[in-house]
Amino acid sequence: MLSMRVTAKRKGIRPKHVKDLIPLMILMVIIFLVLLFWENELDEEAMAATLEQLHVDYPQSDIPIRYCNHMVIQRVIKEPNNTCKKEHFFIHERPRNINSVCNSPRMVTCQNYAPSLCFLSEIKFKMTVCKLTEGTRYPACNYRVFATEGFIVVTCDDMGPAKIERYTE
Ligand SMILES: *[C@@H]1O[C@H](CO)[C@@H](O)[C@H](O)[C@H]1NC(C)=O
Repeated sequence: MLSMRVTAKRKGIRPKHVKDLIPLMILMVIIFLVLLFWENELDEEAMAATLEQLHVDYPQSDIPIRYCNHMVIQRVIKEPNNTCKKEHFFIHERPRNINSVCNSPRMVTCQNYAPSLCFLSEIKFKMTVCKLTEGTRYPACNYRVFATEGFIVVTCDDMGPAKIERYTE
């Protein structure tokens, strides 16, 4: 009985059987690599959800009138104390291209995070600037719409843009 078991065990790891497993192992390696590349692709498009939520509208939402008033409600743009934000801007550009601003060689001083350095985009992006015309308490905020193009200034961390600081025309 005992010796039969030993032979059965030995049978399980005979070299011939290991060879049979090779195609399966290759397949597993391929699946692993595919998943790895896929994840990297996703990372490239990914951006801090809050940052995208705050500042990116691409492609631009089809809101023919009062674009800013709608967007400020839809994206919940307000001061932490629930007052209307004086000014806000939405960038109409692919998240991937906004991420790449972190590779820009153009460094400028940050306004709010001095003395750290910020990155200035190399090209202008299409954007909409919303300027408060009336209202104090969110959501009763009324904005005027300005379509423009501007360079953006961002702070970056290991993950990419951490904060979109401002724009310059
Ligand atoms: C709310 O916060 C904004 C920006 O931080 C500030 O300018 C404003 O005075 C504050 N308003 C009140 C009522 O606290």
